[in-house]
Amino acid sequence: MNAATAMVRTMAVAAATAFLASTANATVDLREAAKHFQYNIEKIGVTPGPAATPQSYSVKVVFSVTDPTDSTNVWDIQNALPFTTAPAQLTLDIGWDPGADFTNTGGATGSLALTSPLALGTGAALPVQVRNLVNKAAVPVTAFPCTLADCATSAPNRFFAIAKVTPTAFPALPMTGRVVLEGRPVCKGVSGINCDDPPVPPNINIPVTTATANFTFAQTGTLAAKLPLTQDPRRPVVAIEKCKGCHDGKDHGTGIVPKLSLHGENRNENLGACVVCHNPNQTDVPYRRPVHAGEDARIGGPEVAIDFKVMVHSIHSGGFREQPFVVIGRNSSVNDFSGVRFPKELRNCTLCHIDSGGKGTFELPLRAGVLGTTIKTQSGYLATPRTIDVDPSNDTKISPTAAVCSSCHDKSEVKSHMVRTGGASFATTQKALSDRIVVERCASCHGPGKDEDVRKAHEIRGSRHDD
Ligand code: HEC
Ligand code: HEC
Ligand code: HEC
Ligand code: HEC
Ligand code: HEC
Repeated sequence: MNAATAMVRTMAVAAATAFLASTANATVDLREAAKHFQYNIEKIGVTPGPAATPQSYSVKVVFSVTDPTDSTNVWDIQNALPFTTAPAQLTLDIGWDPGADFTNTGGATGSLALTSPLALGTGAALPVQVRNLVNKAAVPVTAFPCTLADCATSAPNRFFAIAKVTPTAFPALPMTGRVVLEGRPVCKGVSGINCDDPPVPPNINIPVTTATANFTFAQTGTLAAKLPLTQDPRRPVVAIEKCKGCHDGKDHGTGIVPKLSLHGENRNENLGACVVCHNPNQTDVPYRRPVHAGEDARIGGPEVAIDFKVMVHSIHSGGFREQPFVVIGRNSSVNDFSGVRFPKELRNCTLCHIDSGGKGTFELPLRAGVLGTTIKTQSGYLATPRTIDVDPSNDTKISPTAAVCSSCHDKSEVKSHMVRTGGASFATTQKALSDRIVVERCASCHGPGKDEDVRKAHEIRGSRHDD
């Protein structure tokens, strides 16, 4: 990777993220190894708890890990080496969506009271997690081998897990959720892959494609809440195939662009998983805390939005943005993306966005229901005890169109234009947006066919004004 263009990371704890793990003696191709694993979310069932406000639900998920290279092999995740060897992990994330965006409101506490965690890592709008699925000795056990009675299947090595979730105040139908199956086996005992050369290698994480499935809270009782694959309750915006045009582990002119495996190879190449956590109500608050002597002061700085549209635009617009984009990550690592240089035309939105029939998902207006982006959760992350505010109603937000456009166009005079000419706000609340006290007017000038049409302004082919 070219040092001049690479993003800069300062890690409190080093993480091994090599895809091609090589030593002096041997090379293990982890993408070859990954071909032996496929995550499957087979069934989802929802049962409402006792009538209460907010209503709780028990969500039951039946899942498996198959081997696409060998139809006779279904991994026994609680006994097979790739899963029982540290640091293997397998986790279910359960998120919900009140219409346009995931919010997971109620995920941490249904009462939306402040949480005061002892450990770092708690978020303001994160999904409910069921961790430790591979550990049959976990206390308490989180995943169980299926019986016919449990799972209505006698197929081998199916497992199930149950999570209680308390979605608070869905404002609108459809009341849909998403299950994410994520995690990494390690390279140990994978048939045909020599993980043990040299004799004592570190246990290397294998990046397996993350699985997602959607369900509805309207179902009761049976394992029948899973929606057909064709039914995505959230709008499609970008396509992973487009990201892979660069994110293929090759050099595109500004250095190697890594495959999209994030969070220690736990979350891989499935953008439908990213948006469950990278939603408009979530910031990088989980690892923000008071700064200790000698540490980077930014760890204790203001929260940064990790809303997918803001984060992904901001990561790729290094050199165009005036302000560096810095996310405090796991273990309070400081991830400064200002050195990233986009290897193609940044204004070519179609490098990432779905664009069909002359209508692109990058165009205005935004779909109704897209939430404002939180930049302040009101958490007391510098206080003692440290608190996380999981109530989104008091969040300070940027109105949604301004959040999208300012993630690249961050010059102060352009932001003033958004406020003065466009009606945007960089310090509002979701209530003010929903009650239309703050109303963005961007589409009247930047909408399709208007003078400053987003498509035309970015000189994208297929503009209705090309002729
Ligand atoms: C034209 C090339 C290109 C396209 C298309 C592209 N990216 Fe990137 N992306 C990059 C480059 C270059 C980097 C910086 C890589 C580095 O310095 O390690 C990057 C970095 C990232 C990072 C940070 C990676 C990390 O390890 O922290 C994420 C996340 C990311 N891109 C997501 C996406 C998504 C999602 C898409 C598709 C919607 C996408 N990218 C499309 C070129 C591209
Ligand atoms: C279970 C929740 C969750 C999922 C799923 C998830 N993320 Fe994250 N991500 C976070 C949180 C929370 C942060 C903020 C830092 C922190 O608390 O770890 C973050 C931070 C990041 C960062 C910036 C910090 C860093 O470490 O580089 C990038 C880039 C990123 N995520 C990319 C992705 C991509 C791409 C996906 C999908 C393949 C994804 N994430 C899936 C929760 C998640
Ligand atoms: C590197 C990839 C990338 C590029 C280039 C890119 N975007 Fe995006 N954009 C994203 C991602 C990722 C999202 C969030 C997707 C999601 O929420 O599912 C997004 C979301 C958006 C949205 C919100 C859509 C919605 O329904 O929420 C708009 C509007 C948008 N982008 C405009 C643009 C414009 C205009 C350009 C070109 C000047 C552009 N984008 C270039 C990755 C990109
Ligand atoms: C992915 C980054 C990105 C996003 C997101 C983005 N733009 Fe741009 N925009 C650019 C780039 C790059 C240019 C070209 C600037 C240049 O050539 O100097 C541009 C140019 C423009 C221009 C022409 C300005 C000029 O000086 O010629 C307008 C108008 C514009 N953008 C509006 C928007 C609006 C409105 C949005 C939000 C819907 C948006 N942009 C989102 C990157 C982005
Ligand atoms: C009354 C018409 C009008 C409205 C409403 C409007 N804009 Fe603009 N916008 C313009 C014009 C004109 C330009 C200048 C284009 C140029 O320089 O070529 C512009 C430029 C921009 C640019 C590019 C600035 C640059 O120089 O790089 C962005 C980004 C932008 N507008 C975002 C927004 C957003 C976001 C909103 C809504 C919150 C909005 N605009 C509302 C007319 C408007």
